Amino acid sequence: MNLLYTNYEINDIKFNFVDKWLNIIKNIYSNLNRNSNLESNVCTNQKVFTSNELKKYTNLKDGLYISILGQVFDVTKGAKHYGPGANYHVFTGRDASLAFITGEFDDKGLTDDISSLSIEEVKALNQWVQFYNENYICKGKLNGRYYNEDGAPTKESHDVQKMLIHAKEKQFQDEHTKKMFPPCNVEWKPDSGTVVWCSKRSGGIERDWIGVPRMLFESPNSKQYRCACVKLDSKEYKETKGMLKEYSQCPKTAIKCAVKIENLSS
Ligand code: HEM
Repeated sequence: MNLLYTNYEINDIKFNFVDKWLNIIKNIYSNLNRNSNLESNVCTNQKVFTSNELKKYTNLKDGLYISILGQVFDVTKGAKHYGPGANYHVFTGRDASLAFITGEFDDKGLTDDISSLSIEEVKALNQWVQFYNENYICKGKLNGRYYNEDGAPTKESHDVQKMLIHAKEKQFQDEHTKKMFPPCNVEWKPDSGTVVWCSKRSGGIERDWIGVPRMLFESPNSKQYRCACVKLDSKEYKETKGMLKEYSQCPKTAIKCAVKIENLSS
């Protein structure tokens, strides 16, 4: 099937799309202010280590310290992991933030430069920071890439925080969309082809309505879509109508459709 939009429809789609996301983003920011766990990940110990000072802490006599995103933790109680000869001894006495994600424990991999990481990977790295804050004692900050000599966050540290906020926003957006437009159940059989249908638990979203299958497009100009269950009398459906298309072979209100893969190219 070819999908052709008039200019009027495209403007309508764009307006609804922008309006919808502005509302969602407003909600996200109020949620972030209420539930932010980013601050709880920041060490409150005022001590600032130089990198030379930190290098001392690689043995059981002085202690075993690691740094991650510029926060320094005493991991001596985890000597079986971090002690000399143990698997993660390479983390001690330095900031090797990148290797927490790449698992590359060679000279090139053991660096605090995480500029090669994606937002999702930075989020995973932040979970390690959270892990250390929850399980070990924070001893202070490391003067270098993420904190200056007074222990104040550098621009790079702020950039990481911005990425984390961005990741959180995206997670809220995705969760909100998934709740409003839960994924359909999908089944493929050689004789009947692909069948999509909605149920009160499709997509793992428990709800008191079933909905009807529609193609939900990621953005106004996107050809990518997924099957979403849509509540036809909902406000969200009316607001997002431009992003939704009926399956051509399927009656408007049917909760189950046998579908052909729609060909959306011109
Ligand atoms: C990116 C790669 C990896 C990194 C950065 C990493 C890092 C770590 C760190 C830091 C710990 C100690 C946590 C603590 O303080 O309690 C740990 C524990 C552990 N890691 Fe890994 N790890 C990686 C991959 C793996 C893989 C591939 C395996 C298994 C095949 C593994 C198995 C384990 C086990 C079993 C423990 C717990 C040991 C225990 O509690 O006695 N790790 N890992």
